[in-house]
Amino acid sequence: MPGAAGLLLPLLLLLPGLAALEPLSVGLAIGVASALTGYLSHPNFYCSYVECCPSAGHRINATALREQLDERLFGQHLAKEVVLRAVTGFSHNPSPKKPLTLSLHGWAGTGKNFLSQLLARHVHPAGLRSKFVHLFLATLHFPHPQQLQLYQEQLQSWIRGNVSACPYSVFIFDEMDKMHQGLIDAIKPFLDYYEQVDGVSYRKAIFIFLSNAGGDLINKAVLDFWTSGKDREEIQLKDLERVLSVGVFNNKNSGLWHSSLIDRNLIDYFVPFLPLEHKHVKMCVRAEMKARGHAVDEKVVEAVADEMTYFPKEEKLYSDKGCKTVQAKLDIHEDIAVKYTNAKD
Ligand SMILES: Nc1ncnc2c1ncn2[C@@H]1O[C@H](COP(=O)(O)OP(=O)(O)OP(=O)(O)O)[C@@H](O)[C@H]1O
Ligand SMILES: *[C@@H]1O[C@H](CO)[C@@H](O)[C@H](O)[C@H]1NC(C)=O
Ligand SMILES: *[C@@H]1O[C@H](CO)[C@@H](O)[C@H](O)[C@H]1NC(C)=O
Ligand SMILES: [Mg+2]
Repeated sequence: MPGAAGLLLPLLLLLPGLAALEPLSVGLAIGVASALTGYLSHPNFYCSYVECCPSAGHRINATALREQLDERLFGQHLAKEVVLRAVTGFSHNPSPKKPLTLSLHGWAGTGKNFLSQLLARHVHPAGLRSKFVHLFLATLHFPHPQQLQLYQEQLQSWIRGNVSACPYSVFIFDEMDKMHQGLIDAIKPFLDYYEQVDGVSYRKAIFIFLSNAGGDLINKAVLDFWTSGKDREEIQLKDLERVLSVGVFNNKNSGLWHSSLIDRNLIDYFVPFLPLEHKHVKMCVRAEMKARGHAVDEKVVEAVADEMTYFPKEEKLYSDKGCKTVQAKLDIHEDIAVKYTNAKD
């Protein structure tokens, strides 16, 4: 025992600086330091600067999503209903058996990308800018059919890597009609009813497929409804769902043609987008004006909507491009309006 004290004493003499510090200030410094690191590493603080993956048990606020869809998505009562049902069920299920897979179908400019982005924003507030939301474009990311094998491996490793990093990842595949079928089959293992694949669980992820496939079938069904004097809102999901799943399955250009995704029932919901009427185009114009912070001018609204082309040839009911060119057309009109007011001054 005296030996130990003898060793300690010269050590203390060697470190006069340390000995000079008051125990109180040492304690204080340690306290402040640990509080600071605790604060900095606290999720709320950290995640307000760096985007974080939602913590386990994260739910989508269905009420907020419904409000957004009611307010911003026009003329798509079926898509709204299906997506809300799908998302609420999936998000509130503590242990889903497979990832959520939605296949969105419809004519150009009817809101497929728009709805996907709205939905993504309810999982990750940064939406498409989030590092947990991934948008794949067939023509951009997978342009060369001869490189299929490379793409397959790339896509599998991306999805695996991203879901490992965040189970709540959202994957959007745009232009499915231009996607090589082999590519879709490559992601099949992730969409299936497996608890885990190579130690990664994909069951909290969301996969959204967008395509124009089946758009003609939907348009025809909607026109038939109109011809028989029925209301657009009377169209029910069952009127379209079968037409769609069979039509898409048998459409060589759907990206899902005879795909094992449909074969194995891995698509949870087919979401039909109806062709947009003149009145819906006007709603898009008004929304765009408001978004730009301008007063709604009904003359301009009418003029922009009238400039769009409509089909079928005789009835001229549905916009050829949906709401797609509204922004560009509005640019021109507002330009003219500005010049006109300037000229008057
Ligand atoms: N139903 C809708 N309600 C509100 N806005 C819409 C709707 N459809 C389209 N828009 C507007 O038009 C723009 C283009 O639509 P979007 O990109 O979603 O079309 P799409 O269905 O993906 O078409 P495509 O098949 O040609 O890619 C959207 O950004 C949105 O501003
Ligand atoms: C969900 O959204 C609604 C409407 O935006 C809001 O009032 C409500 O507080 C939200 N609920 C939760 C749990 O965040
Ligand atoms: C996640 O996906 C993106 C493509 O959206 C890819 O560039 C990235 O490498 C992937 N991350 C991982 C860890 O695989
Ligand atoms: Mg699109």
